[in-house]
Amino acid sequence: MTTSPVDATTTPAWGELLRHHQEFRGDLRGWFAADPGRAERFSHTTGDLLVDLSKNLATDETFDLLVRLAHEVDLPERIEAMFTGEHINVTEDRAVLHTALRRAPGTQPSLVVDGQDVDADVARELDKVGAFAEQVRSGEWSGVTGKPVRTVVNIGIGGSDLGPVMVYEALKPYGREDLEVRFVSNIDPTDLAQKTADLDPETTLFIVASKTFGTLETLTNARLARAWLWERLHAAGAIEDDHDAKQAAVRAHFVAVSTALDKVEAFGIDPANAFGFWDWVGGRYSVDSAIGTSLAVAFGPEVFRELLAGFHTVDEHFRTTPLERNVPALMGLLNVWYTNFLGAHTHAVLPYAQQLHRFPAYLQQLTMESNGKSVRWDGSPVTTQTGEVFWGEPGTNGQHAFYQLIHQGTRTVPADFIAFATPAYPLVDAVGDGKAVAPGADVHELFLANFFAQTKALAFGKTADEVRAEGTAEELVSARTFSGNRPTTSIMAPALTPSVLGQLVALYEHITFVQGVVWGIDSFDQWGVELGKKLALEVAPAVSGDDAALAEQDSSTRRLVEFYRTHRA
Ligand code: F6P
Repeated sequence: MTTSPVDATTTPAWGELLRHHQEFRGDLRGWFAADPGRAERFSHTTGDLLVDLSKNLATDETFDLLVRLAHEVDLPERIEAMFTGEHINVTEDRAVLHTALRRAPGTQPSLVVDGQDVDADVARELDKVGAFAEQVRSGEWSGVTGKPVRTVVNIGIGGSDLGPVMVYEALKPYGREDLEVRFVSNIDPTDLAQKTADLDPETTLFIVASKTFGTLETLTNARLARAWLWERLHAAGAIEDDHDAKQAAVRAHFVAVSTALDKVEAFGIDPANAFGFWDWVGGRYSVDSAIGTSLAVAFGPEVFRELLAGFHTVDEHFRTTPLERNVPALMGLLNVWYTNFLGAHTHAVLPYAQQLHRFPAYLQQLTMESNGKSVRWDGSPVTTQTGEVFWGEPGTNGQHAFYQLIHQGTRTVPADFIAFATPAYPLVDAVGDGKAVAPGADVHELFLANFFAQTKALAFGKTADEVRAEGTAEELVSARTFSGNRPTTSIMAPALTPSVLGQLVALYEHITFVQGVVWGIDSFDQWGVELGKKLALEVAPAVSGDDAALAEQDSSTRRLVEFYRTHRA
């Protein structure tokens, strides 16, 4: 697909949205009071997710116009182009097929793209990951001294880290006490040093996860881990200090996930223990590929397949549901409304689930690496603002930190609230606090009461008259007044199961895609990270003491490097 993208800002729907915006007055109190059917009409389901859009700053007309816009930028055709493997990643001339990683087994006709039987290859690799996971879990896979694996260390960064660590934290209740996974990503040596400090090398397995197997951080950490393994095994008398013994140790304690299997072998990892995927899976879309090997080990292949099935449920919804009820489409379009018409710069994601504490970080890569672009897929400049800053923390922690700004600040911060009806750890407060909390209170209910209360407070606020009616001194009334009309989307599911987690991730993947389509950008490349990587390698000699390299730096960088060289202990 090399034709130019439709310029959304020139479409009739965009013009209508501009007009609509000029006469738009957010009035969530009034809208809810006048329209008892609002919550029902603006709530939708996808899979197990209930998605309530009714507390957004949008009317029926807003939604109608946004859906018209989606048609005028050819969203349905672009969705189909993605699912069928057209090269919609134009700047890298690649198909975008993360959805193929989770197609239902046995789907007919099978998906063949660019001559590759995608379904067959995906199934084969998934089986290989599953078999390996079972070997580790059963103890059949053993380290060089014959001991079973007790700790898996995933070494990767970006998409080769954020997805696995997010899912690992979210699904911990599905794990086993005798099998832990740790994640090393940062080239700051502290990361590897701390994560390995208390490990037994004989029971440790490293998974080097890197799509390219060329990422500086990951390869550096992998080399450090290899040296750590050799040194510790030798110190424990488990291996000799010779080439063959070291080679055997690497083969027993290292596996890899990559699209570059030749480089894996050059590192010393047995190619039989390398799990592959393909260039049509972007790093930030890869947690459902072999990049999730650490998850299959931690939770078992069945749980991993349930996760994939959850993704697929939302894929099917996205592909087949009319835009008027299509949840990812509507959420993506609302984000366009906020970004391009209501002037929002950021978007908060606030899971009321401690298990999702890495979800906002995961979404930051997904959304911002995808849509942080200033040119469209044909290289022409964008014609409007693009990707928002995504951020967030689990509730209720955020309530005691940054919610103040969302409630009473001058900026509009659309926020997604996510909660689950059933807790992973049902706990009861047997004693209570003698005031607000009764003896025997279900703590999850207290938690959820906060979730419900926050979106209410944000939507409906508190008027000055209501504040006065509480007997507040007049000089404090304005400080204690809440304007309301702060937009939120509420997402609820029965429980945080593997399938539900897959559904949530797929939801945000497709929201991101929808926004990219409206803006005409390639949401699947990431050229913006290249310059910093190149410059780091250029500056490195100056840092290490090369005065000629130092002299070539700009004055600020030179001074900073000099400070480092002077103060390095
Ligand atoms: O630096 C950006 C990036 O390319 C991400 O897109 C990717 O997820 C990450 O680096 C890691 O890349 P790799 O898996 O090839 O090591």
